[in-house]
Amino acid sequence: MQQLKGKKALVTGAAGGIGQAIVAKLQAEGAMVTGTDITACNADFSIEGNLMDAAICNELPKNASQLMGGLDILINNAGIITRGDITQATDEDLKRTMAINVEAPFRLCRAAIPLMAKVGGGAIVNTSSCWGVHPGPNHPIYVMSKAAVASLTQCLGMDHAHQNIRVNAVCPNEVNTPMIRSGFETRGLDPDKAINELNLSVPLGRIAEPDDIADVVIFLASNQARYMCGALLEVNGGKPVQ
Ligand SMILES: NC(=O)c1ccc[n+]([C@@H]2O[C@H](COP(=O)([O-])OP(=O)(O)OC[C@H]3O[C@@H](n4cnc5c(N)ncnc54)[C@H](O)[C@@H]3O)[C@@H](O)[C@H]2O)c1
Repeated sequence: MQQLKGKKALVTGAAGGIGQAIVAKLQAEGAMVTGTDITACNADFSIEGNLMDAAICNELPKNASQLMGGLDILINNAGIITRGDITQATDEDLKRTMAINVEAPFRLCRAAIPLMAKVGGGAIVNTSSCWGVHPGPNHPIYVMSKAAVASLTQCLGMDHAHQNIRVNAVCPNEVNTPMIRSGFETRGLDPDKAINELNLSVPLGRIAEPDDIADVVIFLASNQARYMCGALLEVNGGKPVQ
């Protein structure tokens, strides 16, 4: 049985590694999906836009709702990783990371919640990271941005449960997507070789594939997670942050 039949979902970062997997699984479970990203994405409806633009974020839930005839699910998946210790970080790095990773989900939740409340409820799944819950080395801007997403999720999970709006977060460890592969390329490493090595550090024997994360997102968005509010669900293959 399809778990999300008739539901209408908005997914950010829908053209990215995890985003594409989320869109495909939402559709497979019967949901109609509006995807948004910098570039066009493969969904029922595609909205191109930069989440650094506050006005775009403020309008997206309403625009998606108009395209689909409602909005039941918001997946805040878009994000960037900013590497390096604090002495290497520029104000621009800080501004950009906080705008995309924190301010955009903040604005999208703020705009989506009243729409969901009006129709009796909904589900929001934010994307934090294991690194947002347990800090890892040499990524202070990324770690604090994902910690802010975790905290936002816990706050909204409490504040909006009475409206039957469940807000939860998925917290992946390393996932095989362009985000992690581009990091290896920047450091002059072969991404396939580097991932094979990274796989050895994971008790389950491999880093996550996008589908491993998307399945948990679908669970949190679905009625299977009907009693979960403000949860931070770590999906890590048994690997601690180190
Ligand atoms: N890959 C990992 O190891 C990992 C681990 C933990 C958490 N995450 C989180 O998972 C989420 C998805 O990451 P991914 O691995 O699929 O990365 P990805 O780079 O493949 O996808 C991210 C998507 O977000 C979009 N995006 C970035 N900035 C944007 C902007 N200003 N406006 C609109 N769209 C924008 C990108 O265009 C891209 O399609 C992110 O929030 C990331 O922080 C990833």
